[in-house]
Amino acid sequence: MPKLIIDDIPVEVAPGTSVLEAARSVGITIPHFCYHPALAIAAACRLCAVKLLDGPVKGIQMSCSLPAQDGMVVSTTDPEALRMRQLVIEWLMMNHPHDCPVCDEGGECLLQDFTIAGGHSRRRYQGKKRTFQNQYLGETIHHEMNRCIECYRCVRFYQDYAGGTDFGVTGSAGRVYFGRFQEGALESPFSGNLVDICPTGVFTDKTGRFRARYWDYEFAPSVCQHCSVGCNTAPQSFQRETIKIVGRRNDQVNGWFICDRARFDKGYLNDPQRPREARLDGATCGYDVAIDAAAKEIDKFVAQNGAESLAFVGSSRLSLEGMTLLAQLARTVDGSRLCYFGNEEELAGSVAAARLLHEKNSAYLGDIEKAECIALYALDLMEEGPMLALAVRKAFLAGAQIYLVDGDPIPARQKLPFTFTAVATLDEVPFEGGGRGVVIAGAGKKDADLLDQLASGGAKLVMLQPGPNAMAGGLLTLEFGGQAFSELASAGKIKGVVCFEADLPDGLIADIEILACADWRTSAAAAKAPVFLPTTTWVESDGTAINYEGRAQRFQRTRVPGLPLRGLDPKYYGSTADAVAEHPPRLHRREVPGGAERDAWRVMAQLIERLGGRTIEEPLTGRWSKLKDLDPEGEGVRVFNLLQGDPRTES
Ligand code: SF4
Ligand code: SF4
Ligand code: FES
Repeated sequence: MPKLIIDDIPVEVAPGTSVLEAARSVGITIPHFCYHPALAIAAACRLCAVKLLDGPVKGIQMSCSLPAQDGMVVSTTDPEALRMRQLVIEWLMMNHPHDCPVCDEGGECLLQDFTIAGGHSRRRYQGKKRTFQNQYLGETIHHEMNRCIECYRCVRFYQDYAGGTDFGVTGSAGRVYFGRFQEGALESPFSGNLVDICPTGVFTDKTGRFRARYWDYEFAPSVCQHCSVGCNTAPQSFQRETIKIVGRRNDQVNGWFICDRARFDKGYLNDPQRPREARLDGATCGYDVAIDAAAKEIDKFVAQNGAESLAFVGSSRLSLEGMTLLAQLARTVDGSRLCYFGNEEELAGSVAAARLLHEKNSAYLGDIEKAECIALYALDLMEEGPMLALAVRKAFLAGAQIYLVDGDPIPARQKLPFTFTAVATLDEVPFEGGGRGVVIAGAGKKDADLLDQLASGGAKLVMLQPGPNAMAGGLLTLEFGGQAFSELASAGKIKGVVCFEADLPDGLIADIEILACADWRTSAAAAKAPVFLPTTTWVESDGTAINYEGRAQRFQRTRVPGLPLRGLDPKYYGSTADAVAEHPPRLHRREVPGGAERDAWRVMAQLIERLGGRTIEEPLTGRWSKLKDLDPEGEGVRVFNLLQGDPRTES
């Protein structure tokens, strides 16, 4: 472990740590642009100069590319180093347009911070600035090439890290150009990371440009809800509208990056047409009136048909809090049925994962990245867990063998960022003793015996799930029982349903009475239900989700519930004639328009109380209570060992 001294502070770091990172570990930030912990070192910007006063290396050095060594004495404030940084930043800024007031990166721009930190505050250059033509890069990323300071982060991410081939660097000397080889939409499904990784405003999120400044946003740590990987994000909202979603570092789950689906698929959160008011027989009503009515409908139905023909149905869109209370709600109506899954295949896959995986055989991001042999088994990786494709690429670049099993016609559909060998069965994959082997299985139908065999054979397993919180559904099905809705419905065992954020197949609900429906989106079930209760989405609520590897992660409310100001119904402007032109609203109300939504678990708690159950303040109780205080900024915890009384360890 090298021991060195940085600015008179003794530092001990792991072998291979750069001087820049060693300084960072004791709270000293050395100005830098090209360095990024996730990318290979380029030492391209020359801004991170420090002076080595004593030890094995001497003089001015680039701290990002210099490994810390025993006996080094480093000064980050030596006048010679400061002067070098000052000159470097002045030259890097020579052609920069200085358009900060109109640049959408203003307020969150590393260039601004490090220009000042580097000591450059006055422009001396009198010549003509070099200018570039910008390119159209598609509907999501805006290009403003004049702001580039040639740090090469974008191209190192796009080509080297993400395996993209349509973007790169051309030119030479003072005319180095970063863009597509031909104008057009960026092809990589990870292209949105250019926004986060470019330290200046060359790439900005076109879907949210000029809507707000960084300090205007409401934001909080969150977890992506588009697939079961559970990547960490920070949705940024302004005036009740989620404008941008950016990646958040979690080395256990997603590293630094997120996929484009997570970043750009956000329109549904802001949709003014989203149901936001409680309804009783089609007419809007107070929320508590609707909950009373739902309880009455349930009582009436049970009295007429018996509890066994009533099902409480949820889905993997529910938070863990909602899922645990759904089981309690079903128990309150003694004899009723509980469903976390719409169909048998989803239920079987998630229950198999909950049963098979444990602390030792469940692979996480690091296991995939370090694997020597990876089998992709019956899945569409880019659809079911895009960020894991980048983890497989990392392993591939380090020499891992990749096999695609049972993949036809997947290779044609997926543009995977690595090459692989197609084989017909898992038996053909040469896992040598299982060590550092990983099988990534999709959420669809698979041979449980085979997975069982693999799980006991030493290869680690990824079992992707059919929804963001389906693993929780599997674990709770093991704990409380539960059937697939389709199985019950097609067997004619249920006549009535109360559903929470569940997508019930249209064909199966024709002959079923929907007593009440709670959801944040419209559905056939919602239209049919006499009682409708609007719920909050994941950006408007606190909650917990369990990802494919059994990791519980907490997400926080990132904005208040309610209609986005931009989507406000004209009625909220107090005039029907030129409502939209009249801005801001001239009606002053205490309530947030459309802000009646409640978290699904709170609706369930109120229903439990109305149905004669106990009052519930805290949804995570019993063995789940250990997750209550999970740090949303932390790495999350694997639930396998945490949960005492785990049904998988009980015979
Ligand atoms: S476009 Fe951005 S990331 Fe790429 S080289 Fe220029 S400043 Fe660096
Ligand atoms: S891989 Fe899945 S969880 Fe991660 S960012 Fe993409 S959609 Fe979200
Ligand atoms: S950060 Fe060290 S040279 Fe760019």
